[in-house]
Amino acid sequence: MEIKNCKVIKNQKIAEKHFILKFENKFSKEFLPGQFLMVALPHFYLRRPFSVFKVNKNTISILYKVVGKGTEILSKMKKGNILNILGPCGNEFNIEQKYENIWIIGGGTGIAPLIFLSEKLKRKNKNITFFYGARNKNLLFFDILPAGIEYVFSTNDGSYGYKGTIFSIVEKMIKKEEKPDVIYCGGPELLLQKVSSLSVRHKIPSFITLENFMGCGMGVCYGCVIKVKEQNGWEYKRVCKDGAIFRGEEVIWQ
Ligand SMILES: Cc1cc2nc3c(=O)[nH]c(=O)nc-3n(C[C@H](O)[C@H](O)[C@H](O)COP(=O)(O)OP(=O)(O)OC[C@H]3O[C@@H](n4cnc5c(N)ncnc54)[C@H](O)[C@@H]3O)c2cc1C
Ligand code: FES
Repeated sequence: MEIKNCKVIKNQKIAEKHFILKFENKFSKEFLPGQFLMVALPHFYLRRPFSVFKVNKNTISILYKVVGKGTEILSKMKKGNILNILGPCGNEFNIEQKYENIWIIGGGTGIAPLIFLSEKLKRKNKNITFFYGARNKNLLFFDILPAGIEYVFSTNDGSYGYKGTIFSIVEKMIKKEEKPDVIYCGGPELLLQKVSSLSVRHKIPSFITLENFMGCGMGVCYGCVIKVKEQNGWEYKRVCKDGAIFRGEEVIWQ
């Protein structure tokens, strides 16, 4: 893990309360799909975690929603401002050669790490179906979706794609279609929880990305622990260090 001062290149509003922030990539370590970074913000003791959405040699981008004071401050960052960033944090999505037919399921800003993942899977010529849900059409970010992938959209109000939650669509499709070899999921906890239990029911491996509250982001404070199943019962694992990607079946939902 490294700490770098990175210059903001662009902080673009893409929808109500949603932004894409691009900044200089000063890191010598490579960021991998599923990993996140911790941004220090003025007036806040604790850094804020964000999944990496896009990386290249010179720049890194995150996709974020303004939900509180920290993200409000982040949204005011301008080109040339300096951000102090810790990363790369956490583990990466498990990608195995044997996974050919892949379902990616995401909602809200949970699609950020999934887009990074799908770019990588695309380069490996995998057969990807990306299920993407939002509350309404204005919150589906079509412009940032990689080309060459099959998409299934849903909106809660029916303004685009299927009407209903993305999980309700996945649940219907899994009964009709050939089952995927693996599922990757990001988004609200309820979606992660439902996808995990669906994957257990259908005996499909799944990998989900958790967004627990974090303190240090580097495995020291134990502020981010979750319970996971192990042979003799359960144990605590740190989302920041042992995750944020977990196998769906191992998480004990509280
Ligand atoms: C590994 C990881 C990756 C993440 N990736 C992204 C991302 O790509 N894009 C993005 O927009 N957000 C992401 N988040 C969530 C993001 O970190 C929080 O939204 C942010 O820290 C909120 O800061 P704040 O000061 O604005 O809000 P706060 O003032 O801290 O909180 C405001 C409100 O947001 C809720 N909230 C705060 N943090 C979280 C959280 N971690 N999970 C759920 N609810 C929360 C609080 O309950 C409260 O209601 C990620 C979190 C983790 C742990
Ligand atoms: S946030 Fe400190 S151990 Fe995970």
